[in-house]
Amino acid sequence: TNINWFPGHMQKARREVAERIKQVDIVFEVVDARVPESSRNPMLLSMLNQKPRIAILNKADLADPNRTKQWLAAYQAAGQSALAIDAQHANRLQQVAQLATQQLADKIARKKARGIKNPHIRAMCIGIPNVGKSTILNRLVHKNIAVTGNRPGVTKNQQWLKAGDNLDLLDTPGILWPKFENQQVGLRLALSGAIADTVFNDDDVALWGLEYFMREYPARLRKAYGLNDADLALAPNDLMVHLSDKLGFGEEYDRMATRFINDVRKGELGRYTLEVPEADHADA
Ligand code: G4P
Repeated sequence: TNINWFPGHMQKARREVAERIKQVDIVFEVVDARVPESSRNPMLLSMLNQKPRIAILNKADLADPNRTKQWLAAYQAAGQSALAIDAQHANRLQQVAQLATQQLADKIARKKARGIKNPHIRAMCIGIPNVGKSTILNRLVHKNIAVTGNRPGVTKNQQWLKAGDNLDLLDTPGILWPKFENQQVGLRLALSGAIADTVFNDDDVALWGLEYFMREYPARLRKAYGLNDADLALAPNDLMVHLSDKLGFGEEYDRMATRFINDVRKGELGRYTLEVPEADHADA
């Protein structure tokens, strides 16, 4: 989904999501595991107003498993429940309901004490476009819901869908905007394809990405493009020129840039995560 976020649009999305948050016991904040911080909406935390939350790092199949572990540890250290899943292959999805039940144990116990036999948990998915909210929703309810109104500011009648014995899910995910004010964040979102169209051109994204892989994942470049030590010692710019030549694009560097971005997005360079938790990931 490609959405133009105009200021009026954002305000409307924000009001609508805030309204729906009031209807649920817990929020599933869906992010992309390759960019767990950059793919968060900057306002959600304040909108939640202490409402319980589970951070769902989706697309874990594409992310660097070691870094996913680091992220989960950071969340845990901050006392925040978090889960890495792969919704497309329905991996570890059952843990979502388990975690929600765990986190709301007190509330459930109180309801049982009041005579409610099987208290249901009401939840909704919230996140920026493309992180996999609809996929998670469909997998959790074991149906293929055409998530109509899957755009911000499009209101429709809400329905509750059964996602297990005691979990009810709002049938429309809450859609909020990404952080676009920060250039680093934008480049991460662009390279991973978390956001298809950004203000950046391919050249800038590819060069930034190549530099990142040279620093963090050099062995991947070596393997994918048959590079040697000398190649990897080049400046990123020069390596891009070298790659362009090597892959037959010659001086059509824009084609090389697009190729590199597509390789990264398609996983040709393996599983990767473009950010690690800060030492003080306090607001996790
Ligand atoms: P959204 O509601 O948050 O906007 O996201 P949506 O579920 O539409 O998912 C966005 C894209 O991400 C979809 O791919 C979807 O298949 C893919 N996706 C969702 N979860 C996962 C996951 O855990 N792993 C991987 N690898 N991909 C995931 P698409 O290209 O838009 O469509 P399609 O390829 O499924 O046809």
